[in-house]
Amino acid sequence: MPPLLLLLALLAATPLSGAAAAGFGGGGDPPPTPTAWPEQFHAVVFTNLTESGGRLQLIDLYYDWPRGRNLNIIRNQLSGNPLYDVEWNNGTSYYFDSASCRTVRFPVGLLPPDWLANGAVYLGREKVDGFDCHIWTKVDFIWYYEDVVTHRPVRWNFYNGMQQHVMSFEVGGVLEDSQWQAPAHCFSDQDTATNPGAGTGAATVDRVEGEGDKVDFMRNLLRFAGAPAAAVAAA
Ligand SMILES: *[C@@H]1O[C@H](CO)[C@@H](O)[C@H](O)[C@H]1NC(C)=O
Ligand SMILES: *[C@@H]1O[C@H](CO)[C@@H](O)[C@H](O)[C@H]1NC(C)=O
Repeated sequence: MPPLLLLLALLAATPLSGAAAAGFGGGGDPPPTPTAWPEQFHAVVFTNLTESGGRLQLIDLYYDWPRGRNLNIIRNQLSGNPLYDVEWNNGTSYYFDSASCRTVRFPVGLLPPDWLANGAVYLGREKVDGFDCHIWTKVDFIWYYEDVVTHRPVRWNFYNGMQQHVMSFEVGGVLEDSQWQAPAHCFSDQDTATNPGAGTGAATVDRVEGEGDKVDFMRNLLRFAGAPAAAVAAA
């Protein structure tokens, strides 16, 4: 390959901008690596959808990798009826409240605990929500803020403007099995949808088809963030 084309190809494949902007490349220490999530945790997440056309939410997030499941209990501000988003690693998600239910099948499972390790670009350090944080971004979909001292996640922002602030982070926090069970009204009629973009960016995903891992990661993340974003419509 001619040298110029080779250089262009390398530039296209290498996310240089983030590291350069953060002032790396002076021969100093390598950038820090993000801390993997614990295999089980319970977090209370304050979600701000103001920039993406929504309101505020308080979410109980139960991440349970060994049992292959992830749960968002989403409470919209001043709304009494929480929305449950039960995600199973086999691709099935149940979205339900006391009155309605939707079953969706995704072509991907859950975010693995080390989902940020591969392909994240380090952007440097910044004070965020009052905490000194390391910042990484991945495929321009998520900006992730981790406390420099405790290594706990402090915040993550999504490409659509959704901001999630971690209010508590309980390592090993689990929820009893009965709480994960989708209610009977999820199984009464056949309204299962297959392979959706969860209404939050399917077009974006299609455009980069062919970059397998990246697409799967985006689908993963859309699934993870989809229910809070979709709750905008219901609010
Ligand atoms: C929500 O986000 C918007 C836009 O960034 C900001 O102006 C507002 O102060 C935030 N609200 C809360 C309660 O954090
Ligand atoms: C995935 O697992 C859940 C929970 O056990 C189950 O309800 C669902 O039917 C499974 N989906 C598939 C496609 O097997």
